[in-house]
Amino acid sequence: MKILVFNEEKKLDAYVGETICDFIRQHDQATIGFATGSTPLGVYQYFIDSYQNHKVSFQNVQAFNLDEYVGLKPEHPRSFASAMKNELFSHIDILPENIHALDGSKEDMDEECQRYETLIEQNPIDIQILGIGMDGHIAYNEPGSPLDGACHVVNLHQESIESSLDYGFDHIEDVPTQGVTQGIGTIMKAKQLIMMAKGEKKADLVKRMIYGEVTSDFPSSIIQRHPNVIVCLDQEAASQLKEEDYEKR
Ligand code: PGA
Repeated sequence: MKILVFNEEKKLDAYVGETICDFIRQHDQATIGFATGSTPLGVYQYFIDSYQNHKVSFQNVQAFNLDEYVGLKPEHPRSFASAMKNELFSHIDILPENIHALDGSKEDMDEECQRYETLIEQNPIDIQILGIGMDGHIAYNEPGSPLDGACHVVNLHQESIESSLDYGFDHIEDVPTQGVTQGIGTIMKAKQLIMMAKGEKKADLVKRMIYGEVTSDFPSSIIQRHPNVIVCLDQEAASQLKEEDYEKR
């Protein structure tokens, strides 16, 4: 595991953004996994700037979203599909048919999960962007999720429901109580993981993710077992790590 700690948020975003742009430029086809939430927004802005300055094209990119709320149609303004469209996809030249996501509004969610799992098997993810939730989740794999799980529906924990208020819901009662997510097993099949965390509120979680036991009680700890993972942190999120364990940037 490579751990990089950046003294400026802009540098962190540019590092992750450029790593992925480089990969896209060097490959005829690139399959990238995208995460919602506030943490990667600076990276998405980096992609938009790079595209607008003719430094990268996303026409050869297949995009896979990590997770979604159950009960919202993709076009619902608070869906993760809409968030990804508004924050990134509508500002770059990615082809609409290359944007893939779980649809949380399907009648048969088991079938929907199977469809998405198969699609990912057919299009293995080259680089997966990840964040860590306030209960240690990755994607919507809440504590207790099986470490080898496939795409599945989950009951959201209270911390995740509360965090959703940051994503534009006005009232807690409006937040869906279930999500649908790539499983931990699905995520672990990606060839490379880039885990990002920012801010003091993530410091304890980052410590446990890196030094703690690998356990389904703390799903993000699974990244310790991935052969190709870069953890990109700001100084606040890294404040509980030993200095000898990371590289300063
Ligand atoms: P955040 O969410 O980036 O908004 O902190 C992370 C997550 O829940 O995975």
